[in-house]
Amino acid sequence: MPSDSLTLTDNRTGKTYELPITNGAIRAMDLRQVRTGPEDFGLLSYDPAFMNTASTISRITEIDGDRGILRYRGYPIEELAERSNYLEVAYLVLHGELPTLTEMDQWVYDITHHTWVHENLKKLMEGFHYDAHAMGMLVSGVGALSTFYPEAKNGGDPATRRLQVVRLIAKVPTLAAFAYRHNLGLPYNYPDNDLSYTGNFLNMLFKATEAKYQPNATLERALEVLFILHADHEQNCSTNAVRAVGSSQVDPYCAVAAGVAALYGPLHGGANEEVLRMLAEIGSKDRIPAFIKGVKDGNAKLMGFGHRVYKNYDPRAKIIKRMADEVFEVTRPSPLLPVALELERIALEDDYFVSRKLYPNVDFYSGLIYQAMGFPVEMFPVLFAIARTSGWLAQWQEMRADPEQKIARPRQLYLGSGQRAYREIGKREEAPGGR
Ligand code: CMC
Repeated sequence: MPSDSLTLTDNRTGKTYELPITNGAIRAMDLRQVRTGPEDFGLLSYDPAFMNTASTISRITEIDGDRGILRYRGYPIEELAERSNYLEVAYLVLHGELPTLTEMDQWVYDITHHTWVHENLKKLMEGFHYDAHAMGMLVSGVGALSTFYPEAKNGGDPATRRLQVVRLIAKVPTLAAFAYRHNLGLPYNYPDNDLSYTGNFLNMLFKATEAKYQPNATLERALEVLFILHADHEQNCSTNAVRAVGSSQVDPYCAVAAGVAALYGPLHGGANEEVLRMLAEIGSKDRIPAFIKGVKDGNAKLMGFGHRVYKNYDPRAKIIKRMADEVFEVTRPSPLLPVALELERIALEDDYFVSRKLYPNVDFYSGLIYQAMGFPVEMFPVLFAIARTSGWLAQWQEMRADPEQKIARPRQLYLGSGQRAYREIGKREEAPGGR
């Protein structure tokens, strides 16, 4: 008998089963043997929203939600935010190790030299309505990349995989910047290979008539840090989408487009946009108590608060809050900052939030910084998507290389009708009041 095991008694049959426990988990498939008879399919576990189900073994990102810990490949997020840059972190997340000098040079060169997109992609972006949401444009743009690189279907080949990874990390900022310029009715700016990853992104967004765009060093660094903080976050909604879609062995452009789509939602990456809208709606400190009352009455959510995993604090929120001051020295302080600070103070003292372990998450302050840097709210989730691309790809690679993974296909508990006989349309009773 294994020492780490679970003894399970099925009270329907009186039978007892011994289930091994490995890495703190039982295998759901081990439940299949628990049956009432030969006709019984076997016991399933029911877990809507994956509240207590590990869908994979991963070696990329570690979160300890109770202790507020986030580490990429073992490196604490605080240290990476302080000392690293986004491309180095992207390399780390994807490769498992920090790059050597030579590896880093090659990596930066490769990314920098894949930032341009086919001119037809520009035409695709031009086809959007003038007020199209930037995330909608990004979902489409990333999906469309798939049609330009048909060889990407060959995800079983490591060299092909690597090339698509480089292309995606390089081109997503270009598509994002096109979306931004499109909304403003401005001509799109092309990448500048002399600039850093974030410096070039700022160039593609904000370059006007100057011959050479010079990014502000503080803002360039702030964006690096924000990108580092958003690079990966283990099995969140969008990563799960990338893994699930990628498990069909579709190319990574389509899988990442699914991730962007999932991120767009207001409970996920769209939350930073919603925070700003919420703060603007509250407008002033004196209106906070009424807003909080509305949240407690169930009329609204306090956006930027709460997290499925963090039940103490979100370490990313702490770093962002500190960084906000540096950014506001260069830009102007956000007029909504006092509202945000007071909202946080009141919520953290209120039993409703305390008892539910609701703390500010990464999205509570990031929007204020983005706003101060000159981004419209629609771009906030886009910035998240750029940064998360490296994490999605690391998770996609891990999934493709994992011999235990197969096409993702959950089970269901069917509680619908049993077999029924079909009746011709004229012979069905009209539903009273319609359906
Ligand atoms: N405001 C008010 N009440 C909340 C909030 C909130 N932001 N978040 C959770 N609750 C309440 C919820 O109503 C529930 O109360 P009760 O027990 O009385 O029914 C309790 O807290 C537990 O919440 P839950 O919905 O079961 O928690 P979850 O793990 O399913 O949801 C969440 C996590 C992040 C979706 C949720 O906290 C939320 O909607 N937050 C606001 C949106 C947000 O800021 N999202 C960004 C998440 S961090 C970045 C990212 O990953 O994208």
